[in-house]
Amino acid sequence: MYDKGKVILGLAIFLCLASFPAWYIVLTGKGDYRPAPVLATSENQCVESKQYMREYHMQLLNQWRDDAVRNGRAIYTATDNRTYDINLTGTCLNCHSNKAEFCDSCHNYQGVAPNCWDCHNVPVMGK
Ligand code: HEC
Ligand code: HEC
Ligand code: HEC
Repeated sequence: MYDKGKVILGLAIFLCLASFPAWYIVLTGKGDYRPAPVLATSENQCVESKQYMREYHMQLLNQWRDDAVRNGRAIYTATDNRTYDINLTGTCLNCHSNKAEFCDSCHNYQGVAPNCWDCHNVPVMGK
């Protein structure tokens, strides 16, 4: 009464179409785009925890600037008591040496454009 071949073909086409959104994401990587900041450092930890840095690095940088410029402090003592020179270029970008692939990859995605680099140097790549 019915053509088994056509039913199976129809079913196959249906499954392809139904699963298209999933394939589209897998094949193009477009559906689930998230920035993938490239660390470019052999160090395994940041100044503070990754979660803290992710959420609060702007506040930490403001604090660093105030400490340096207003309070004349040159050293930051982290929560785990390790110490760091308070320096945007010399410390942050020493580890995160590829600003474009690290800082910018997130900022461009979020539409944030910090003006810090009007004055602060970006290390030359491949130094
Ligand atoms: C000693 C090397 C080092 C220094 C200095 C350093 N970082 Fe990091 N940073 C790392 C590492 C390693 C990670 C990843 C940590 C992890 O995966 O647990 C990281 C993570 C981060 C993250 C989170 C990235 C993500 O994917 O969520 C941000 C934001 C960040 N750092 C910003 C900064 C800023 C701003 C400074 C300066 C205040 C700084 N880092 C200084 C090594 C460093
Ligand atoms: C994991 C993603 C991510 C990474 C990596 C990252 N940022 Fe950010 N950054 C953000 C987001 C999101 C904001 C905006 C936060 C907000 O508006 O509350 C921001 C804001 C900032 C601000 C404040 C900008 C403003 O106009 O107020 C500064 C300064 C900053 N980031 C510096 C850096 C530096 C320097 C690096 C690299 C060392 C870096 N960020 C890496 C996500 C990131
Ligand atoms: C108009 C120029 C200018 C802009 C824009 C600027 N800074 Fe600065 N910043 C300075 C000067 C000048 C100093 C003092 C340098 C010194 O004492 O050697 C300084 C010092 C700092 C310091 C401590 C010392 C150092 O060299 O890192 C931090 C941290 C800092 N700024 C963070 C920031 C961040 C984060 C931004 C962007 C949100 C920013 N600054 C934007 C001019 C600027």
